[in-house]
Amino acid sequence: MVTVLNHPLITHKLSYMRDEKTGTKDFRQSLDEIAGLMAYEITRDLPVKDVEIKTPLTLTTTQQLAKDIVLVPILRAGLGMVDGIRSLIPTAKVGHVGVYRDEETLLPIEYFAKFPPNLKDSIVMILDPMLATGGSASAVIDIVKARGATSVKLVCLVAAPEGVKVIEDAHPDVHIYLAALDEKLDENGYIVPGLGDAGDRLYGTK
Ligand code: PRP
Ligand code: URA
Repeated sequence: MVTVLNHPLITHKLSYMRDEKTGTKDFRQSLDEIAGLMAYEITRDLPVKDVEIKTPLTLTTTQQLAKDIVLVPILRAGLGMVDGIRSLIPTAKVGHVGVYRDEETLLPIEYFAKFPPNLKDSIVMILDPMLATGGSASAVIDIVKARGATSVKLVCLVAAPEGVKVIEDAHPDVHIYLAALDEKLDENGYIVPGLGDAGDRLYGTK
């Protein structure tokens, strides 16, 4: 399932990220703010459990989150989404996966993985601003599933239809959340119109 979050604030902030004139500071701030805005929607269907509490007036039954949330940013660019989401879910744990795309083959190469325990009983949210060929996200979904994850969401800012299809075919159980679904990939595997290389723009490495 794919949900594109059509929200004026998200589109407005994304336009800054798309603009080639936007520098590292504003790019990072917009990514952080958009991730925070997306958090409300991606948490809409989280399971809750009944808990009994005592207000200053009486005993009452209310609800709290039933499962741990584990955020899994794909290094490097996914790191820029963690703080925005964590500001709404401060108890979220964070696992890290390092994957980069080989520039020639466009295939994902894993170089780091560290997770909190008990992925099996957690809601795992994989974070990456860009879903291009889908190779990196698909590989990371394989990695978390191999460690027991059964409930996985993929949260991206900008996607190409090609990448969405790769995830839908390989992982039909994974709900994909997007800020925008763009037109296509170019011959170098970049999303068009896109926003360029998210990691380089976030960290000023080019
Ligand atoms: C970018 C992006 C995704 C990946 C998307 O990372 O952040 O992880 O490319 O491409 P795909 O869908 O075709 O796999 P990159 O490989 O540039 O690494 P970086 O974040 O370290 O710059
Ligand atoms: N990775 C990026 O950072 N941007 C793209 O457009 C494609 C892959």
